Amino acid sequence: MTTLLRVEGLAMGWGGRVISRDLTFDVQRGEILVLMGGSGCGKSTLMRHLVGLEQPMQGHVWFEGADLHHGDPMALAVLRRHFGVMFQAGALWSSMTVGENLLLPLRLFSPRSERAMVQMAEFRLALVGLQGSFHAMPSTLSGGMIKRVAIARSLMLNPDVVCLDEPASGLDPVNAARLDELIMALREHLGTTVILVTHSVQSIFAVADRALFLDDQLKTMTAIDTPNALLAHGPQRVRDFLQYARQCA
Ligand SMILES: Nc1ncnc2c1ncn2[C@@H]1O[C@H](COP(=O)(O)OP(=O)(O)O)[C@@H](O)[C@H]1O
Ligand SMILES: [Mg+2]
Repeated sequence: MTTLLRVEGLAMGWGGRVISRDLTFDVQRGEILVLMGGSGCGKSTLMRHLVGLEQPMQGHVWFEGADLHHGDPMALAVLRRHFGVMFQAGALWSSMTVGENLLLPLRLFSPRSERAMVQMAEFRLALVGLQGSFHAMPSTLSGGMIKRVAIARSLMLNPDVVCLDEPASGLDPVNAARLDELIMALREHLGTTVILVTHSVQSIFAVADRALFLDDQLKTMTAIDTPNALLAHGPQRVRDFLQYARQCA
């Protein structure tokens, strides 16, 4: 295993208000790491810091030894292309076809011949089980299909890491389980490292190599380990979180 991301002494917040601090952990290449914790504990905020979109109050995030927040802006912009992101409220452009939505990141950041770009988009659509949807309008797709297209779009620039913020929210259990399978397939077939925010304990146990718990009361991370280890002997609040969420599932 090689370390892809290293987070060191990270503190996050705005205008003097700290959301979470003293975050130190590594993400290994090819790992599926889940970020978990109650609403408002800072999961989405941490994800934005990990991809370099938010400036830390303190600390560093290193991608293969390169600081993601400090340095030449051009070099930082290039570094950020190693990340594919599906934001929590991530939506498709409704006036564009599925295919045009997928081509957008390429047109912006990595233009090449139209034929080559369309081929890349078709390949990503096949990966997420939506071959044949290139010309579809988003309004004709189900919620589960739209999430899959958004994931396909996050893969367009061949990222080393994909960050998915609650991709299963709003999906029925069958489609949520299919999304878990897709996430595992991405790692298996592309070797992609996945950072996943989810509330679903079923997903955590299905896909996570490790899960990191952000405690909203203590305003820091209190655990990072395999789901089974956390359930067996994690801090009390982490066990409560896993058990309670499990009962609700
Ligand atoms: N841009 C921002 N400016 C100020 N506060 C923010 C901003 N984004 C999020 N917050 C606050 O940070 C806290 C953590 O938010 P968030 O990361 O969205 O939590 P989670 O994803 O775990 O539900 C919340 O209290 C939220 O109101
Ligand atoms: Mg969030």
